[in-house]
Amino acid sequence: MKFQLFIYAISILPWHFIDYTTGFPQPITCGNRPVSDDVKSRIVGGRDAQPGSWPWLVSVQQPIDEETFLHLCGGSILNTHWVLTAAHCFKNHENDYVYSWRLVFGGNQLSVFGPEIEIRGISQKIVHETYDPEIEKNDVALLSVDRPIIYNRYIQPACLPRQTSDVSVMTDCYIAGWGVLEEEATEPSDILQEAQVQLIPNKRCNSPSWYNGGVGIYNLCAGYDKGGIDSCQGDSGGPLMCKDPNLRIFSVVGITSWGSGCAQARSPGVYSSTQYFLTWILEKIESASSSRQQV
Ligand code: ARG
Repeated sequence: MKFQLFIYAISILPWHFIDYTTGFPQPITCGNRPVSDDVKSRIVGGRDAQPGSWPWLVSVQQPIDEETFLHLCGGSILNTHWVLTAAHCFKNHENDYVYSWRLVFGGNQLSVFGPEIEIRGISQKIVHETYDPEIEKNDVALLSVDRPIIYNRYIQPACLPRQTSDVSVMTDCYIAGWGVLEEEATEPSDILQEAQVQLIPNKRCNSPSWYNGGVGIYNLCAGYDKGGIDSCQGDSGGPLMCKDPNLRIFSVVGITSWGSGCAQARSPGVYSSTQYFLTWILEKIESASSSRQQV
């Protein structure tokens, strides 16, 4: 009997993970990559991502005329109602009506929309109450969709790190986005780019010839000492993803926030730490959905 149970557990392991809180295999409800879990590693210095590689990635787009939209920022799907992005995506758009913006899910090449693509409007925007645009403190925002997101093989929710996970030891980390391919470029990339990056300890990132104290405890740095590979304009709001060594799935550990230029030496990308903002994120989603139920 025990042996059969063991065999059963083994047989379902590739599709389930052990939930350490209950000790029982649970279906993976986030971080699934049904189409492509292949990462070989522009962003700057990256490569084309395979369709479906990062199924929680969102393109936040602004209308520029009747039928054209422009990619502005990235984002990550948290659940069927909420998208996580950066607060600074709305910085120069104080007077814009974000409710005319759109969110594109399941995208890879933004100029070609296949049947897997879903488009939603924004019904609510929650920017961190103490977001400080001067120093990009608390650069985090949530967007709710006007109709629930319907998951498919190209559209899946992201995992966030657990409060107890040690993000700093994660070594298998990637960034992805439709941002510009070079610092001087103006047009976002048509095809989703991905690149492998290394987490850089905040202490090192804050050293005098680096960001000299500009990186907060709410930030993570990722990139390379010598530069060359980095996120850039248009990647903001998108994810920094690391494979959780225990769960063996990717979690969104950071939100692309800022950097000095792009891919410069000793100036890696700076990300808002999702683990730092975990309580804020969960509280906002929770209170928004309970107030919705009361209506
Ligand atoms: N603030 C930029 C944006 O709005 C992202 C900059 C990231 N910079 C960097 N060097 N990693 O898209």
